[in-house]
Order: sequence, then C-alpha cells, then structure tokens
Amino acid sequence: MSSTPPSTLHVSSSTADAAPDTLHVAVIGAGKAGTAIARSLLDAGYRVSISASGDPSRLELMIDFVTPGAEPKWTHDAVTDADLVVLALPLHRLKNIDPAHLAGRVVIDTMNYWPPVDGEIPAFAAGDRPSSEVVQEMFPGAAVVKTFSHTGYHHLEPDRRPAGHPERLGLAVAGDQRDAVALVSSVVERIGYDPVPVDSLAGTGFLQPGGPAFGARLTAAELRGLAAVTAPVA
Ligand SMILES: NC(=O)c1ccc[n+]([C@@H]2O[C@H](COP(=O)([O-])OP(=O)(O)OC[C@H]3O[C@@H](n4cnc5c(N)ncnc54)[C@H](OP(=O)(O)O)[C@@H]3O)[C@@H](O)[C@H]2O)c1
Repeated sequence: MSSTPPSTLHVSSSTADAAPDTLHVAVIGAGKAGTAIARSLLDAGYRVSISASGDPSRLELMIDFVTPGAEPKWTHDAVTDADLVVLALPLHRLKNIDPAHLAGRVVIDTMNYWPPVDGEIPAFAAGDRPSSEVVQEMFPGAAVVKTFSHTGYHHLEPDRRPAGHPERLGLAVAGDQRDAVALVSSVVERIGYDPVPVDSLAGTGFLQPGGPAFGARLTAAELRGLAAVTAPVA
C-alpha cells in the first residue's frame, strides 16, 4: 500500500453490498469512455448520473439518444449525490476537479496520460510512476481505484459476458485500499468482466499505454499472469 488511507472513506460494508439499483454512480466526462461506461452501469442496474464541463442542460439531448436512463447533472451535484465516482475526462482537465469534493469517496480512475491530447504535464510525463499514483496524490482524501483504462471504449460493451462464460474477459481493478478495490470489483463483476484485483496503484504500469495489458483484451488468468510479473496481486 503506497499512500495514506483517507480517514473518512465513504465505503462501508452496506455500500459494498448494496443492490445495484441503490448504488448511485457519478460518471464525470460524457465523451467516448464516459458514455460507454455509463451505459454498462445502467445495463447492470446501477443509478447513473453523468456530467461534462458545463451546464447539464447541454447534455440532455445527447443522453436521450446515447445513454438513456442516465441523469445529466452539474459535476458538483453529481459527486455530492454519488456513492461512487468515475473520472472519465482527459487528464489535462483533472485540475478543474476540486480535491476537497472527492475527499472520502471511492473514485474510479479510467484515465490514461496521452500527450497528443493532454500535452506535456510534468508530473505524468516524468514516467517514474504510474499515472494513477499521481492522480491519488492529487486527490489525497479519495480512495482511487484504477479500472476500465486498459480497454477501448468501443470494446467495453461488446466484450461483456455473464459469469462463467468461456469468453469472459478480465479487467484489472487496482488500488491501495482493499475495501475500495472490493467495491469496484463487485461493479466490474456485475458489468460483465472478471475483476483482477491488484493491491497497489504503484503496480499499474502494465495497464498503461505501452504496457502489455493496454488494449490487449485478456482473460482474468492472462491478466493475473501479467500482474504477477509487475505488480502484487491481492
Ligand atoms: N477513448 C477510449 O477508448 C478510452 C478508454 C479508456 C480510458 N479512456 C480515458 O478516458 C478519458 C476520456 O477519454 P475520452 O476518449 O472519453 O475523451 P472525450 O471523448 O474527448 O470526452 C471527454 C469528456 O470529458 C469531459 N470533460 C472535460 N473537462 C471536464 C471537466 N472539467 N469536468 C467534467 N467533464 C469534463 C468533456 O466534456 P466537455 O465536452 O463539456 O468539455 C467530454 O465529455 C481519458 O483520460 C482517456 O484516457 C479512454
């Protein structure tokens, strides 16, 4: 475990065991990744809100067609109301999210550092540690869990399979806090993937662009094999 656990984390056994229809997930970012994740969450029975960088009324028409059932909100309101927050915005826009507002929350980091889009951001460009470790440092009061980042948005929905299906794939679920990893693993499982817990953000280099798991569409066993080489597996 590489970072200090938040002292008032909003994850309890009741949250972790909550039925999907009572767990409210805020997806921050209404682009390619955010909308695919939102649809997958809705299909799995979760309550979903979605926000972008501005007025939610600008999202209404798009949501009707692209993520029907999701509720458009201001980012601040979406986070306030949520049990779980998904960051699906470009990394260079992350500075616009207030760290105090995410304190005590479980936060899924779907983001990859992508210089052609993000530009040169020294903390990420240094490359001496995985991007999610930097994100955790930017949001010290949150429990950051990395998942969804190593699959393309266009594969996320078609690759879903029920538990036990021979073609079911794995998704890594990495974080420094076991409770938060367990909560997010239950979500990944319900969406249609075998979660592969990785018990530190420091061990997520293999999931990043250029890493062996990035875009590779692997089974849980294959992902575990890669994680075992580069990261401790929970
Ligand atoms: N594309 C993929 O296949 C894929 C897969 C895995 C992970 N990811 C990661 O997901 C993230 C988003 O990628 P994308 O391809 O979905 O990008 P995208 O299609 O360009 O969408 C970005 C979204 O983020 C929103 N946004 C920007 N600044 C925001 C802010 N301050 N608050 C709230 N929302 C904000 C944008 O809203 P506005 O238009 O209102 O600014 C837009 O809806 C990236 O970090 C990427 O690495 C992408």
